[in-house]
Amino acid sequence: MPGHKGQKFHGLEPWDITEIKGADYLFEAEGIIAQSEAKMAEAYGSRRTFYSAEGSSLCIKAMLGIVCRSGQGKKITVAAPRNVHKAFINACILLDIDVEWIYPKGEFTSICAGSVTPEDVEKVLSRTKADCVYVTSPDYLGDLSDIKGMSEVCRKYGVPLLCDNAHGAYLKFLPESLHPMDLGADMCCDSAHKTLPCYTGGAMLHISNHAPANYDDCAKEIMSMFGSTSPSYLIMESLDLCANYVNGDFPRDLERTVERVKVCKDRITAFGWHTIGEEPMKITVAAYKSGITGDGLADRLREYGIEPEYSDTQYVVLMPSPFNSEEDFLKLEKAFSEIKQPKIRLFGDLPAIPKGIKRMGIRQAAFSAQHTVNVEDACGLICGMTVTSCQPSVPVAVSGEEITPQVIKILKNYGIERINVL
Ligand SMILES: Cc1ncc(COP(=O)(O)O)c(C=O)c1O
Repeated sequence: MPGHKGQKFHGLEPWDITEIKGADYLFEAEGIIAQSEAKMAEAYGSRRTFYSAEGSSLCIKAMLGIVCRSGQGKKITVAAPRNVHKAFINACILLDIDVEWIYPKGEFTSICAGSVTPEDVEKVLSRTKADCVYVTSPDYLGDLSDIKGMSEVCRKYGVPLLCDNAHGAYLKFLPESLHPMDLGADMCCDSAHKTLPCYTGGAMLHISNHAPANYDDCAKEIMSMFGSTSPSYLIMESLDLCANYVNGDFPRDLERTVERVKVCKDRITAFGWHTIGEEPMKITVAAYKSGITGDGLADRLREYGIEPEYSDTQYVVLMPSPFNSEEDFLKLEKAFSEIKQPKIRLFGDLPAIPKGIKRMGIRQAAFSAQHTVNVEDACGLICGMTVTSCQPSVPVAVSGEEITPQVIKILKNYGIERINVL
């Protein structure tokens, strides 16, 4: 194995090896993979860093699995804001985890929003017996949570803080690090492929210096529960090359790009568009405030040869990197200077994202017999399989929750017409 025997067929075969002598084993690493992970751990200042060739999706399940193992196998409860990625829900299904959702004080109208403050976290920890706190930061719209504040709250209550930092592998290398490992999180995952020049699927699970010591010993074992026994060496080689890059030129390239993104955002704002989110490498445009839907703006940008990362009725998200050229930024600015802003009120007040009404556990609902109905016919029924919008895979309705008229409104807003119910 592999069947191509290293002969060029698609083109990358010479590098697509398998566990031959000297190539090490990802989940029992003692050789070159272990050395590369150690190099990456040093770059991130973590106690241990583990590679994933199956994205943060695998790392998220592993982080929660590690907490389950520390709980000696008892059923655990995780406190989390609602803007989690689908991998979190899948982990809850597979590991039979209960979730105590943390809602922000005010209303929020996008499923991608809804990040919370340390005070919101404290409120939940003071009234529940959560075993850990799990937050998504940065979120899809470029909002950064107060990880430092949350980690202080978590420490006060003696629970670990886990961070889905899928969008923030680069945060460590800003002139002043904003990476969760430096802000007090116990574990986090980084999708290297999202913001570093890594092949799709390359990600890392970091364990911090102050995390419980027993996390290190079981991490690989737990990762292997969710991962393939044939992890891609192409992806792992690309993670290794990234380890060299972040230890070399990346901080300088990043600083230059952050400055260019700031100029770009300032210019876009000067053209009358509204940008949101404080993440330095995301450009999130609240298109609806200019009288055009996010999806409509995305289509207009495509006419200029620009492919946004994400769009919905309200927002367009762009994610530049040091690999974008000056021409790319100029093209983007030209597009924003030329695309018409009708400045009309597009829709009335957007419906607030409702709080979930739990009728059954996530795992029980996900594994119950289900049938599919049109969302209009789902009122009063229990959600079977968690429904996410296709991107960014954030849940609109979670398994076991009641489908209410407000939920139906949100589902339709995100173009979801059919739903699995019990
Ligand atoms: C916030 C967030 N977390 C986790 C993931 C999953 O990451 P990956 O694609 O590396 O598995 C994504 C993917 O888009 C994401 O946006």
